[in-house]
Amino acid sequence: MLKTHNCGELRSHHVGQSVTLAGWVHRQRDHGGLIFLDLRDRWGIVQVVADTSHAPQAHAVAARARQEYVLQVRGTVCARPTERVNPRLETGEIEVLADEIVVLNPAKTPPFPIFEDTPVDETLRLKYRYLDLRRQRMQRNLILRHRVVKYIRDFLDARGFLEIETPILFKSTPEGARDYLVPSRLHPGKFYALPQSPQQLKQLLMVAGFERYFQIARCFRDEDLRGDRQPEFTQLDLEMSFVTREDIMALIEELMIGIVEECSDCRLVTRPFPRLSYAEAMARYGTDKPDLRFGMELVDISDLVTRSGYGIFAQAVAAGGQVKGIRAPGCAGYSRRQIDELTLLAQKKGAGGVAWLALGAEGEVRSSFARFLTADQVQAIIARMEAQPGDLLLFVADRPPVVATALSELRLELGQHLGLRDPKAMAFCWVIDFPLFEWNEEEQRWDPSHHLFTAPMPEDLPLLDTDPGAARGQQYDLVCNGEEIAGGSIRIHRREIQEKIFGLIGLNVEQARERFGHMLEAFEYGTPPHGGIASGIDRVVMLLAGEESIREVMAFPKTGQAVDLMVNAPSPVDPEQLAELHIRVVEEKQAITGRNA
Ligand code: AMO
Repeated sequence: MLKTHNCGELRSHHVGQSVTLAGWVHRQRDHGGLIFLDLRDRWGIVQVVADTSHAPQAHAVAARARQEYVLQVRGTVCARPTERVNPRLETGEIEVLADEIVVLNPAKTPPFPIFEDTPVDETLRLKYRYLDLRRQRMQRNLILRHRVVKYIRDFLDARGFLEIETPILFKSTPEGARDYLVPSRLHPGKFYALPQSPQQLKQLLMVAGFERYFQIARCFRDEDLRGDRQPEFTQLDLEMSFVTREDIMALIEELMIGIVEECSDCRLVTRPFPRLSYAEAMARYGTDKPDLRFGMELVDISDLVTRSGYGIFAQAVAAGGQVKGIRAPGCAGYSRRQIDELTLLAQKKGAGGVAWLALGAEGEVRSSFARFLTADQVQAIIARMEAQPGDLLLFVADRPPVVATALSELRLELGQHLGLRDPKAMAFCWVIDFPLFEWNEEEQRWDPSHHLFTAPMPEDLPLLDTDPGAARGQQYDLVCNGEEIAGGSIRIHRREIQEKIFGLIGLNVEQARERFGHMLEAFEYGTPPHGGIASGIDRVVMLLAGEESIREVMAFPKTGQAVDLMVNAPSPVDPEQLAELHIRVVEEKQAITGRNA
């Protein structure tokens, strides 16, 4: 090794020892005869002193060392004089008096400071990701990520799970996104698909008799990106045989509690994890991934305004819609501008507008709609909303899905504004009893709401023939702080039920056999009842790190446009390479004409 010790490990008990260190110049301060270098490695920072009267050569090198130079320092650990003790640094009681300093490599001035956590344009950070990753925050996040994954592996190993790898070059594994395709050189015109998840393979591993499988699996999905979505991301993927949903939920609950308690400084606020049915989550929070760190639940006032003089309310209810509201405690003083901003937010989610009522300190009412209602109606609304003096009530009247989406958005915004979304608080909950299907208006068919291998609730099986929309699936989602961090289900393990589901989602026998023949066939060779779950590791680590985007916990993420700015991918390739793959790229215009033809 080019070093005997790590910079960050030196303490008072090392005083008097000769050490050799290697690392980066974090900062350099030149005080003439004395130069102070903060030398950094992965384990932390230590102060190196170059004293011209002690070692003129070392002092000369220190004088030309700049930020991010890579140095090797030989010297002696000394106790710092009292006035130089730095309580903010773990090594702050000591310093290393340099005997000799060697420049292992100079460095250009970095495009942004490494030594401070100042905001830097993300484009620049991603272009120079290897420098961004030197910054303390990113080091901390990736170390946390390592700990979480290590904890998961140890936890599952101790419970008899086997980690088994599955292929990346595979066939379409529909999880609701577009596939990334890989052309085959050996088979002209044929393509592999990168797995959206190892779903089918893990089920086949159950057919193969492994009973307890897991994998830290890379998944690929070509979908619209957001802060919590990347084109490639990592799942803890898991499957078990001979289980009920209770077994899977208990296992994952124990795992998540362990991760929070052992790997982070966050605290659990809901334990055991509460369970909400999909219908309940939608009714109370307007979303199937509720943030339970705070209340502010949606309250239905439709029955109170059915016959009111306020047309927007009355008409919405008459048209089969609803009127619901939320109570923002202490926000009665919001200005018109603030309310307009909230209205805009709701409108972006499809609402026509927001009706509001502010209850003053003396109980006086200021409102966009109260004048159209009787005093009794207004009082009934205030009572239903359990409003206190000083509260602001916000209402949306529309079709139920619009009301839910708009109010859910307002709830999150107000929760943020009121400081109710503490990043250190972890509020987990399970959402269960999802509908098995969602109606796809465009294609006029049913889509599976989880995926097409999810088993219906046993008591809902007859509904597949009579009323598929009412059938519930044996599905469970784990939600934390408003993020969906895991989803899974008990699977179908009988061929005839699987075929029925294929039929309902519009696959004819031919298509089903072509795409999933291997699954149907496997189901005929003694398939154990089985089920599983997958958790988005990036999202779990993001929450534990208190970050708002999963990009902050991935070493080399892509932008919102799915571009890697560091290596400039995707990028054009040589025509010869394309020819070898039997691929011809057509101009966008040609492609459209081609499609129309
Ligand atoms: P699902 O599609 O719900 O289920 O994915 C499981 C979990 O993976 C995370 N996730 C993502 N994270 C980052 N970027 C993305 N683009 C992304 N998409 C999903 C979420 C999600 O809860 N095979 C099934 C699991 C099963 O049934 O066992 C599956 O993949 O945290």
